[in-house]
Amino acid sequence: MPVAMDHLVTVVVGYTAFCVLFLAVFATVKGVYNIFLHPLRRYPGPKTWTATRLTWAYSMQSGRFHEHLHELHQRYGPVVRIAPGELSYIDPRAWKDIYQPHAGHQVIPKGTWIKVPPGEPHSVVTLDEAAHTRNRRALMGAFTEHAILEHAPILESHVSLMMHKFREQATSSQGRVAVVDMAAWLNFLTFDISGALSFGESFDSVKNGKAHPWVEISCSFGKGIALMASVNFFSPLDKLLAYNIPKKVLQKMEYHKQLVHQKFLQRMAMPNKGKSQDYVGSILQYNETKGEVKIPVEELENNMNVLIFAGSETTGTALASIINALLRYPEALQKVVEEIRGAFGSEDQITVSTVGHLEYLTAVIQEGIRLGPPAAVALPRVIPKSGEVICDQWVPGGTYVSLNQYPAYRSPTNFTHPNSFIPERFTPSNPFPSDNISVFEPFLVGRHKCLGQKLAWAEMRLTLAKLLFCFDIAPVEALGDFGEQRTYIFWEKKPLMVELRERNG
Ligand code: HEM
Repeated sequence: MPVAMDHLVTVVVGYTAFCVLFLAVFATVKGVYNIFLHPLRRYPGPKTWTATRLTWAYSMQSGRFHEHLHELHQRYGPVVRIAPGELSYIDPRAWKDIYQPHAGHQVIPKGTWIKVPPGEPHSVVTLDEAAHTRNRRALMGAFTEHAILEHAPILESHVSLMMHKFREQATSSQGRVAVVDMAAWLNFLTFDISGALSFGESFDSVKNGKAHPWVEISCSFGKGIALMASVNFFSPLDKLLAYNIPKKVLQKMEYHKQLVHQKFLQRMAMPNKGKSQDYVGSILQYNETKGEVKIPVEELENNMNVLIFAGSETTGTALASIINALLRYPEALQKVVEEIRGAFGSEDQITVSTVGHLEYLTAVIQEGIRLGPPAAVALPRVIPKSGEVICDQWVPGGTYVSLNQYPAYRSPTNFTHPNSFIPERFTPSNPFPSDNISVFEPFLVGRHKCLGQKLAWAEMRLTLAKLLFCFDIAPVEALGDFGEQRTYIFWEKKPLMVELRERNG
């Protein structure tokens, strides 16, 4: 090797070794600081998590974050330090202290672990407080009791179509028993309804018996978001990731965006576009009558993207968790079937307006969501600069805080037999009066609480009542606990294979 080349190799190797050594020393010093000197040092938590954000990021990438949080809370109590600058709570008091501004406490804004690309229009989930307030106000019209009743025919026709499809399958199958992947069908249903309420047009996944490509792409975004959330803590890795997104993924993202754009333009071209109480109609009416600051068209379109996903993945997950639990607990299944079949004489009688009063069904839904909360792990909030008191303990400014629902709902400190499906705990004859029912807030509390809660309830009640009225359901194989599935911010749902035998069929 020529002398000059030899020298170059030595310099490069030496420089690399120096960088590695520097990074190792830096990480060690930072780790020692985080454990022994950091303002959060007195909060309980394992050193492997409190020394470095890497353990948190690894857990997030493993799909087991919800289970790891549960284990940590079991071991360390109601508040755990899960990263150098982050605390997780399962204490019901944290709902008020973190999410509901009240006398003597500051507003605790959303944290920024998911960075929004520069120039991205605001939406109802934006971090900007003023833009959030105006978008939330503009959308409220689409979620009132009155609006839900206006949407009822859309909900009813979609659910009835799914029953019709199941009946068709059963009729053409051996023994007149249909076998369906219920988790997939519930996603078809909820995305179709969301599409109809956003663009006035369903994705037709139920009609076609398979996911529309847009729906498939949306459901695969969770892993990408979890990855971005993790690397955002390790700048400049985030920039490197942004430049190295595979071409295929970029193409899918572009298709996703273009389809929303195209459907949005179609919706805007509809006659009487502002008259309907769907999402677009609600915003247009707000712009016309109430909005001192109007919602620009780019924000309107961005909201559609957010709402389709927020309204469908969540409701589909809740329904999948409820059905999974019912199939594992035949006594509860029998009881809710009796309630539904005792209340209605025919499928047609089951409507959004008639299904609200079923007490045991309501309890079944709550208990099913407790075992598989759609928002299993939280988007954290960040403590303002001057610090704040959470659950009677001082938390310094800049700390990420959240109440994580999965560990909160599975904790024996909050619920008796936390891993069992016992809907009675949500009825007036609750056999476990010591349960901390106030920790159960699957739709959040405060300024960012779910806008679609009433709609979700209508969808869940209607779907379950019609399904259990029309069909006897049974598992195809032994089912595991819903919580055994992975989460990448959202649940990565496995197929839920169910046998459907038409009643009297
Ligand atoms: C069982 C079903 C559902 C559950 C468990 C659920 C849960 C939640 C939760 C926990 C949040 C707060 C997220 C955060 O800021 O940390 C939220 C926000 C939101 N949800 Fe839902 N959701 C459900 C269904 C729906 C439906 C059907 C819609 C209708 C489009 C919807 C629309 C929204 C919107 C717009 C927000 C943002 C509110 C804001 O930031 O002001 N959700 N939801």
